[in-house]
Amino acid sequence: MNDSRIIVALDFSDQGTALNFAATLDSRLCRIKVGKELFTLAGPQLIEKLMRLGFDVFLDLKFHDIPNTVAAACSVASSLGVWMINVHALGGSKMLLAARQALDGKRTRLIAVTLLTSMNHDDLSELGISGSPEIIVQRLALLAQRCGLDGVVCSALEAASLREKAGKDFWLITPSIRSSNDNRDDQARIATPTMAIRNGASYLVIGRPITRSPDPLKALQRFNDEIVSAL
Ligand code: C5P
Repeated sequence: MNDSRIIVALDFSDQGTALNFAATLDSRLCRIKVGKELFTLAGPQLIEKLMRLGFDVFLDLKFHDIPNTVAAACSVASSLGVWMINVHALGGSKMLLAARQALDGKRTRLIAVTLLTSMNHDDLSELGISGSPEIIVQRLALLAQRCGLDGVVCSALEAASLREKAGKDFWLITPSIRSSNDNRDDQARIATPTMAIRNGASYLVIGRPITRSPDPLKALQRFNDEIVSAL
């Protein structure tokens, strides 16, 4: 059984490199996230190959459309056999409920993206959305929970207050993770694995600190060790 809390972001721009990289990891020590770029390029065949290597796959396509279309897309994604998919909470409760219903009885887990971290207060005002990003994130996360979703993607820095509001069983999936000595890359608000776990994160999405490491498997093991000692 895989009890690792790490989801490695497989952010590569070609299938061969992505698969070769995945093969250097150990499917008992992590899960894998495939996003829009790689999926658009390599499609369901890549997912199948990753699953054949033993990985649980999080297909990060962030569906956002009318309820009927999102439900159909969720159903097809689930039939690929992926472990988890996501939708935008901003699609509203009808869309979230339709997505949830499409996965009833299936093993695929469903989470929501609340606000994109690229959106600041001014971007939201421009769209006519008032209130602080923190409050909006909280409202969208609780909406996703009421609609029966399994969790949300959120910053590790927001996880503590969401954990308090949403209770212990709601999954909080946190990106922007860096060890204290890692390069921050383009991430502005980072947290260490220890901080993320202490704030109540369920799974940590980690990309470049593992994918760009000279020894990815060792980096993965180091992250897992840090997480285990923070639990
Ligand atoms: O390489 P790095 O660890 O920064 O990668 C983080 C992954 O998490 C990327 O795939 C990125 O798109 C994703 N992500 C993020 N911030 C969010 C949501 C997703 O960095 N708010």
